[in-house]
Amino acid sequence: MKTVYIRSFGCQMNKLDTALVTGALKNANFTFTDSLDSASVVIINTCSVREHAEEKVLSHLGHLKHIKQSRPELVVGIIGCMAQRLGNSLLEHPAVDIVCGPAQLHHLTALIIEALQEKKKLLSITEKIRLPIRDEESQRLEEFECLYDSDDNLLPAQAFVRVMHGCDNFCSYCIVPYVRGPQISRPPNLIIDQVKRLADNDVKQITLLGQRVNAYKYTQGDKTYCLADILEMASAVNGIEWIKFVTSYPADDYFDEICKAVANLPKVCHYLHMPAQSGSDRILKAMNRHYTAAQYLDLLNRARTYVPDIAVAGDFIVGFPDETNEDFRASVNLVRQARYKNCFIFKYSPRPGTTAQNRLSDNVPMEIKQQRNIELLKVQEAISDELSKNFLGKTVTVLVEGLSKKPHLNTKNSESYPQLTARTAADWIVVFNGPQTLAGSFTHVKITKTSPLTLFGEMCA
Ligand code: 5AD
Ligand code: SF4
Repeated sequence: MKTVYIRSFGCQMNKLDTALVTGALKNANFTFTDSLDSASVVIINTCSVREHAEEKVLSHLGHLKHIKQSRPELVVGIIGCMAQRLGNSLLEHPAVDIVCGPAQLHHLTALIIEALQEKKKLLSITEKIRLPIRDEESQRLEEFECLYDSDDNLLPAQAFVRVMHGCDNFCSYCIVPYVRGPQISRPPNLIIDQVKRLADNDVKQITLLGQRVNAYKYTQGDKTYCLADILEMASAVNGIEWIKFVTSYPADDYFDEICKAVANLPKVCHYLHMPAQSGSDRILKAMNRHYTAAQYLDLLNRARTYVPDIAVAGDFIVGFPDETNEDFRASVNLVRQARYKNCFIFKYSPRPGTTAQNRLSDNVPMEIKQQRNIELLKVQEAISDELSKNFLGKTVTVLVEGLSKKPHLNTKNSESYPQLTARTAADWIVVFNGPQTLAGSFTHVKITKTSPLTLFGEMCA
């Protein structure tokens, strides 16, 4: 019996892939450890979205190279976006034995067994990632995906469900279409069967995943299914209580249908993650985003007309090539007008092979990117603070995630119970003291104190 140490970087798609790989390896009788020292196999699931994410993996590999000097039998596998992007050149790294891309994960167990038996380097990536995959490969990938029916890696009672693979948008800064391939929606019956199996295994919250999840579209016979249909079908599954979906692209594809589904289906959470990336129309054009700031705000208004209390999260990139101070002011303006619950702000990082990297110069100095990042975060923080204060004195329903990782300032009751982290349906983080056995259950918390990103409270009897 061999022991695996697995580490995951990056987005929710990666977390789901890590869960799939974990499930497949468990089925093949591998066990898991949190300590590198006791592992025979190390798997790193990697992210390529920014250079910094890749640097973290490379520094980890430096450490593994060192370990392998005394333990040459250790098998190291790199999976995920960096594996697909770098392929053979990553395999040449002295610490690496296996390189396996996201569309090849169904081969990983066999590759690991092979590498354990016979010391050799193994590569499995998709050679022409933008070409549609062959039918039998796609079927094997689908079979692999369908094996996922419960998950002890992720948060208790929660699971991700992929509704689509890949992306066809080619935002000019983004590596995703080059490493995750073309956008393909999964068949609705397979998605719903999976949701049912997850519910049978006590999953209460599912998050439907797609790079542009609102573009989900699948034609079967004479019916074309959109995300609103999937939300409705998933709502009918007993045991599932909360349904979230990410990430939405600011475009008209089925926008009203989806908003109506959010408004009308009680299990669908009032939460929308819809990145704007910039508030400057000039920069949005250079990013190959097909909307203006005004159109973005119009979509937000429409969402809020259907679902007045919808919580919105956004993403912005600062320091995109040629971003002037005026462009940046437009982003500040958009953040002010959008009134996000929270916002993820990234400094532009040129990615090899993308249009922005090929055609534009990364000409905004790092200090300016840093300043803009801090300023935008500050503007958002003030808004988050205002919005969070609205919860004071109110009681919210939360799904408990588990023990709080950071020690917070909420000390009341701390002698009797540990501090727990939970989330509301609208994705607000709630910290309170309670029994650890609540992890994976719904409970009610009265909010007594707030900070921009966290609500603190007391468990209701
Ligand atoms: N540089 C900085 N941020 C990026 N993102 C995607 N590509 C880049 C890049 N090259 C950000 C976008 C996206 C989020 C997942 O990562 O904001 O929404
Ligand atoms: Fe990247 Fe744009 Fe696709 Fe999102 S929609 S994954 S930012 S190309």
